[in-house]
Amino acid sequence: MEKEQKKEGITRRSALKRMGLFMAGAVALGMPSLASCSEDKKKRIILYFTATGNSLYVARQLADENTELFSIPQLVKEGKYEFEADEIGIVYPIYGQMPPNMVRGFLSKARLEAPYRFAVLTYGNGKMVATSLFDELTRKSGKPFHYVTSILMVDNFLPAFDMNEQIKIDKHIPESLARIQSDLKERKHWIEPSESPDFEPFRAFLAFRGLNMEEGYLLRSEKCFVVQEKSCIGCGACTQVCPRGNYELTSQGVKTEGDCDFCFACIQNCPQKAIVFAKDSGYPVLAHGERNPNARFRNEHVSLWSIKESNRQ
Ligand SMILES: Cc1cc2nc3c(=O)[nH]c(=O)nc-3n(C[C@H](O)[C@H](O)[C@H](O)COP(=O)(O)O)c2cc1C
Ligand code: SF4
Ligand code: SF4
Repeated sequence: MEKEQKKEGITRRSALKRMGLFMAGAVALGMPSLASCSEDKKKRIILYFTATGNSLYVARQLADENTELFSIPQLVKEGKYEFEADEIGIVYPIYGQMPPNMVRGFLSKARLEAPYRFAVLTYGNGKMVATSLFDELTRKSGKPFHYVTSILMVDNFLPAFDMNEQIKIDKHIPESLARIQSDLKERKHWIEPSESPDFEPFRAFLAFRGLNMEEGYLLRSEKCFVVQEKSCIGCGACTQVCPRGNYELTSQGVKTEGDCDFCFACIQNCPQKAIVFAKDSGYPVLAHGERNPNARFRNEHVSLWSIKESNRQ
């Protein structure tokens, strides 16, 4: 565990702090507000959702010593929806342009009190309407954000991409991070325009994939994934990286069942590549299998330990 944390360049204590675990404890003890206690230092809170580490990496890069990071699956588990700070940000991966279902659920209940709210959407190949969609969603709920942007990362969408090929592509991540850091420093107000002038191609894409714009990806894990017993070593990683707690080690092997965000934390983080997509699942998105069953991805700066700490139920 320590070895993994050293690889990420952080100590266990600072990792816990940066992931918000210390502050989560403080909230549990009844602290009503997370607003800045010093006059000149701005208190920033970043809420994130991650399956393969890209969004956690981005969230960490946007954090300074005055920032607290909170994992959305942990907040949902603990029923914590109220936050107050000088700046509140959210970092999440786009799924079919949309926020993960769990992020939507969180946002619909959350009260994010801050003079400056920002969102950074990680994506891997095409962001079509993702920023406008988030802007529209948050405006409709009466909680608009002041700054919404996106950042190109490795695309972890296994049905369409070979992870071994994806990691070779220069996605200009340091340059994008520098741009976002500078925008946040000056508290820029900006909604990144869509690549697409209207939502029609997006609606056609949703129909093709059999998805509903109101909920995004919400599938069933027992229909999507199969654990190959011959490869499974019973390490339990899948039981800890799933933000919905859909995996269980049983005397008959590993079982999965439950509503699924289709985030790929399970299939991507299994060290044995023992989890594969189900054939004939009935979901159009899985009709063509995957590009390379022997290639899996986790962001090079983020450990398996961090994904477990972020998503464990
Ligand atoms: C179900 C699913 C759907 C996705 N849809 C898109 C998409 O529409 N456009 C895109 O560019 N990337 C898409 N991606 C790629 C992710 O948004 C991207 O790799 C993200 O950075 C992963 O973040 P994470 O490592 O924090 O989980 C999708 C990934 C998944 C798992
Ligand atoms: S993570 Fe993979 S190897 Fe470990 S228990 Fe789950 S399926 Fe088996
Ligand atoms: S079952 Fe897998 S894809 Fe579904 S929510 Fe859990 S980790 Fe994500």
